[in-house]
Amino acid sequence: MDLHRATVTANEQIMPETHVLDLASPGLAKAARPGQFVHIRCGPGWDPILRRPMSIFKIRPDGISVMVRAVGEGSTIIASSPLDSELDVLGPLGKPFTLDPSARRLAMIGGGYGVAPLVALAVEALGKGCEVVLMVGAATADYVFPADELPTDVEYAIATDDGTLGHKGFVTELLPRYLDWCDAVFACGPTPMLEAVARITRPARYGVAGAMRSEKPVQLSMEQHMGCAMGVCLGCVVMTRKGYQRVCRDGPVFPADTLVWEGSRA
Ligand SMILES: Cc1cc2nc3c(=O)[nH]c(=O)nc-3n(C[C@H](O)[C@H](O)[C@H](O)COP(=O)(O)OP(=O)(O)OC[C@H]3O[C@@H](n4cnc5c(N)ncnc54)[C@H](O)[C@@H]3O)c2cc1C
Ligand code: FES
Repeated sequence: MDLHRATVTANEQIMPETHVLDLASPGLAKAARPGQFVHIRCGPGWDPILRRPMSIFKIRPDGISVMVRAVGEGSTIIASSPLDSELDVLGPLGKPFTLDPSARRLAMIGGGYGVAPLVALAVEALGKGCEVVLMVGAATADYVFPADELPTDVEYAIATDDGTLGHKGFVTELLPRYLDWCDAVFACGPTPMLEAVARITRPARYGVAGAMRSEKPVQLSMEQHMGCAMGVCLGCVVMTRKGYQRVCRDGPVFPADTLVWEGSRA
């Protein structure tokens, strides 16, 4: 993990309120792994004082890209960074996704801007000869992640809350279609979505008929509000079977069976 001065070489709006920023920084490009994130300072002033975490969306030879949805003050400042401006970027941070070499068919499921780290993972997995299906959920067709941001070899499945594109309903309702096919599952998005992924994949992990089926690894990338992003402030903890763990340092990627969901036994 290092502090980088990264120049904004492109800033393109790809969906309402959502921008992709290309950041030039060979140091970040060299160190970054899919599933990790960067902590970006919001402009040159001290308000807001805290940096904002953003997943690594693409890894290029000369830098990385982040996909930023402007939901509040900090993300709006970052999303509106002008071309050639410099961003103060800490990273890469956190533990990446793990690609087991024996896994050949990967199911990925993303909600909202949770698709960002899965795109980096899909690119890496295709490069290793894996087959990838990416399921993405959004509120309406306008907020569906554009297919042209994905490598063409990725099978893309869409769900919208209002049915304006793809399956009408939760993106997690698409997952059972791919459970028998895939060797591993990866997800990133809002906590209720991740909890649903953990619940749906449970029979696949532990066997519908006892121990007849082999365990299927499921990795979930958690999102929490962050202070330091370096493991010091304990502002980002989640409950796991090993006790509280820090999303910024021990995650953001956790095996699904280590997480304990509030008020549930998922
Ligand atoms: C590991 C990690 C990776 C992330 N990757 C991305 C990414 O690739 N692209 C992206 O657009 N966003 C990402 N986020 C979320 C992003 O950091 C927050 O949206 C941002 O911090 C909001 O800051 P703000 O000042 O704009 O909003 P605030 O004014 O602080 O909040 C505005 C709204 O966003 C909600 N919010 C704030 N932080 C989070 C959060 N961490 N998770 C969910 N909701 C939140 C608040 O509850 C509120 O409703 C990531 C967060 C984490 C922890
Ligand atoms: S944000 Fe400070 S410990 Fe994770």
